[in-house]
Amino acid sequence: MQKLLRFGETEIDGGRDILRAAEVTRDPLLRRLYLVHAVDELRHGQLFRRRAAAMLHALPARPEIELDVSFSDHGLDDLQVDQENDDTLLAFLHVAEKAAASRFTLYRDALQSDPATRSVFEDILQDEMFHMNYTLTQLIRVSPERHRGRIWRARFSRLWKAYLRGASALAGAIGGVILTIQYFAILPLFAFLAKRAERRESPGWTTISPQRNRSLSTQY
Ligand SMILES: [Fe+2]
Ligand SMILES: [Fe+2]
Repeated sequence: MQKLLRFGETEIDGGRDILRAAEVTRDPLLRRLYLVHAVDELRHGQLFRRRAAAMLHALPARPEIELDVSFSDHGLDDLQVDQENDDTLLAFLHVAEKAAASRFTLYRDALQSDPATRSVFEDILQDEMFHMNYTLTQLIRVSPERHRGRIWRARFSRLWKAYLRGASALAGAIGGVILTIQYFAILPLFAFLAKRAERRESPGWTTISPQRNRSLSTQY
């Protein structure tokens, strides 16, 4: 269910980016296609959310249930529409839609036991196939010579960003492990030293030598 909510959020965010692409493109055909595409993505977002809501209602009432709504694994989250040209954007979209189509195919096939959710994926999958195909057709139209290079670049940048995400998650995990080791290995050492120092101190007030007992007329 959280996965559905996360998918819903991704679709709606993607829809917003594509709406922005429709605003900035100078190509009237692309503008029309981007508008259709954006409306599709918004609809996908609503379908996912509705299905998640229906599943939530079907659950036995558990007021303590908490949803993790920290959405982060967006397929389109690195997209900065204003910095893309028509061809780089189409290549990026084509690669992203292809990935979405294959991911949703897996989900559809895995959800044999849940026909309602399965039909949501089935419905969305039709659109994703259309998005995957029109972005390729249009990329070939606007950049007949360089479309293959654009697609490879988009694939590479997607892999690179996935690698960076993985690497930063790994770095976070390693940081956590090191902090835990420090907590259990170094803190007890300091605690032991502090206790030993405490034992050496004589209890109560201690008299000090008269030289150190002058009035505080200087800083030292
Ligand atoms: Fe979608
Ligand atoms: Fe799509």
